Amino acid sequence: MSRGGTAPVLTARGLSAGYGDAGPVVRDLDLDLRPGEIVTLLGPNGAGKTTTLLALSGALRPRSGMVCWAGRPTTAPLYQRARAGLALVPEDRSVIMDLTVRENLRIGRADTSLALETFPELAEHLDRRAGLLSGGQQQMVALARALARRPRALLADELSLGLAPRLAERLLGVVRAAADGGLAVLLVEQHVRSALAVADQVVVLRHGQVAWSGPARRAREDPELLVGAYLPLA
Ligand SMILES: Nc1ncnc2c1ncn2[C@@H]1O[C@H](COP(=O)(O)OP(=O)(O)OP(=O)(O)O)[C@@H](O)[C@H]1O
Ligand SMILES: [Mg+2]
Repeated sequence: MSRGGTAPVLTARGLSAGYGDAGPVVRDLDLDLRPGEIVTLLGPNGAGKTTTLLALSGALRPRSGMVCWAGRPTTAPLYQRARAGLALVPEDRSVIMDLTVRENLRIGRADTSLALETFPELAEHLDRRAGLLSGGQQQMVALARALARRPRALLADELSLGLAPRLAERLLGVVRAAADGGLAVLLVEQHVRSALAVADQVVVLRHGQVAWSGPARRAREDPELLVGAYLPLA
């Protein structure tokens, strides 16, 4: 499924990022997101996964290094990157609980019919307040909203956090299908096995640096590779 020959949509070179006066929490990271490919970013709590995502999205200004969008260096803020085709599903899901599902889709400028094509199970909840939905349904709204803008790249932070395994699989399956349709994906995941099942490439972060990277197929065949990078497989 790997399309290593295609030009990346989003690239990081020597990327370092952090907060305030403290030292960088992500250091010297190289990453390529290509159309049709899922890169999964794994690592223990505090490794710098979310920080990486924020720096790639323009929500956090890199300390050094470069982020390129469609081959060109960019320092554009998140909203401009979103217009250019970057979708972000942050850890907090960013669903507005007081608004209905339909309103959530609308303010995300998402195509409602496309969102329902992706998640038909949302149809009966369109006029319910998002706050009344289950965590899994809220996550479907967040993902549907991101995908229904037909982005070129998706950055998703712990989509499956707190969800039952079957729901997690459902969401990751939708991401896989979108990638097969040409989307470039960065998937931050805690569920290592579910992430490996859908990913093409793996990057393991530890203390803000790459501890292992390679094809997901290799990690599936030999999970000890990841254990060697200090990643528990639980
Ligand atoms: N807003 C912030 N201000 C200061 N430090 C922060 C901030 N957000 C994260 N950090 C620190 O940066 C480091 C990396 O955090 P980050 O959230 O990127 O890790 P993570 O890999 O996403 O962890 P988790 O698996 O728990 O989500 C941690 O030491 C964390 O305490
Ligand atoms: Mg995180």
